[in-house]
Amino acid sequence: MLRQRRREQGKEPCVPESITITDNRTGEAIEVPIVDGGVDAAAWRKLLPNVWFLDPSFSTTAATTSAVSEVDGENGILRYRGYPIEQLAEHSTYLEVAYLLLHGELPTPGEYAVWMDEITHHTYIHERFRKRFMESFLHDAHPMGMFVSTIAALSTFYPEAKEIEDPENRMHQIVRLIAKVPTVAAAGARFNTGLPFVYPDNNLDFASNFLSMMFKIAEPTYECDPAFRRALDLLLITHADHGQNCSTSTARVVGSAHTDPYSVIAAAACSLYGPRHGGANQAVMEMLDEIGSYENIDPFIKAVKAGQTRLMGFGHRVYKNYDPRARIIKQAAYDVFEVTGSNPLLDIALKLEEVALADDYFVSRRLYPNVDFYSGLIYQSMGFPTEMFTVLFAIARTAGWLAHWVELLEQDSRIARPRQVYTGSKERNYTPIGERS
Ligand code: CMC
Repeated sequence: MLRQRRREQGKEPCVPESITITDNRTGEAIEVPIVDGGVDAAAWRKLLPNVWFLDPSFSTTAATTSAVSEVDGENGILRYRGYPIEQLAEHSTYLEVAYLLLHGELPTPGEYAVWMDEITHHTYIHERFRKRFMESFLHDAHPMGMFVSTIAALSTFYPEAKEIEDPENRMHQIVRLIAKVPTVAAAGARFNTGLPFVYPDNNLDFASNFLSMMFKIAEPTYECDPAFRRALDLLLITHADHGQNCSTSTARVVGSAHTDPYSVIAAAACSLYGPRHGGANQAVMEMLDEIGSYENIDPFIKAVKAGQTRLMGFGHRVYKNYDPRARIIKQAAYDVFEVTGSNPLLDIALKLEEVALADDYFVSRRLYPNVDFYSGLIYQSMGFPTEMFTVLFAIARTAGWLAHWVELLEQDSRIARPRQVYTGSKERNYTPIGERS
């Protein structure tokens, strides 16, 4: 605005907010306005039919417009629907944030009460389904593998979920998904450890209910430490959405084929499973364990710099500054450690961060701790098995995936169908197998 005012006053040269694309083969040129930091590819398509913009990994491609969350990587800023993540982390709850992401506005007290009631009353999963389907996995099945398969299989229970054009039906499936993902996650974890399934408790809030399903043994009511409940809620809030990340893009691609929401969320969770994405929190703990003591930090950093391994929990495609979520989570870690005593791996993590942030390899590449660097330490101190960390991420991100799924359907978008630049063989003739040497 200031720049525009200065231009109007003649104090700054008038620079057009546009780019010009020239086809040097024909001399034809086209001027395209820059709108909201983006340039419409339709103009490129018109000027250059059959010339594809090669952008593997979509580093320079905006796949959509979106109003759900804003990630400003240069300045380390994250906002959900305009609200800074720091404010939401301090004052809000995960369920309120889920409502905000899905509806675009914070709920009124009445709307919030209805929302909480609906989520609370949709937490159960079909008993036979849990016993016959979930308990058919091997005893040591990874809980994330169980999670993605179970969520996909839920689509067979709710065939009406395919009616994606109906907003009311959509919202019903959304409530079911947000309510049931903790139950599915905890059922997988209990099966892994050989403990009996704990049914959801309608008297508990979202975070406490999940902790109860995870950790309750024989006590009549699970007493949850308030520091744990708050830390879990905070982790859920900070992981709830993050622009067009790998799993959200997967949700959009699958959703663009008009697939049902259970399959969409299962597909998104499959993306999250990978160690470069949501699997990084587990990988961080494995890395810290492997380093084990201070004297191994320098050799480890040397190995990273030699390209033999990566410093997990560091670096981000978008953040070229400290990830704001990492800062919030680092503080939450101390609150949990006040209850549990410090996690022995914390000192190694702190030292690793200090060494990396002073090393030119990391400084020149603008690699900072990301959301996953400290989250695993909290989960571990709270008693979660390492293999559950990515599942916890998936519970939180379900709200974001669904918000993007709704946005996609409301945008009436076309099916996702990128082009390719073909580099294979030219046409050749088939040779019968007996004639091949
Ligand atoms: N350790 C060492 N070097 C790294 C790291 C790292 N963690 N991350 C990036 N680099 C280097 C990379 O080798 C490359 O160097 P060069 O230019 O010499 O080839 C440069 O930094 C740029 O990296 P990149 O691979 O092009 O970056 P990217 O945007 O494709 O990858 C990333 C982003 C998150 C996959 C990557 O930083 C990484 O693998 N980090 C570790 C895994 C991790 O913590 N993932 C969680 C991300 S946050 C949660 C989420 O959203 O899922």
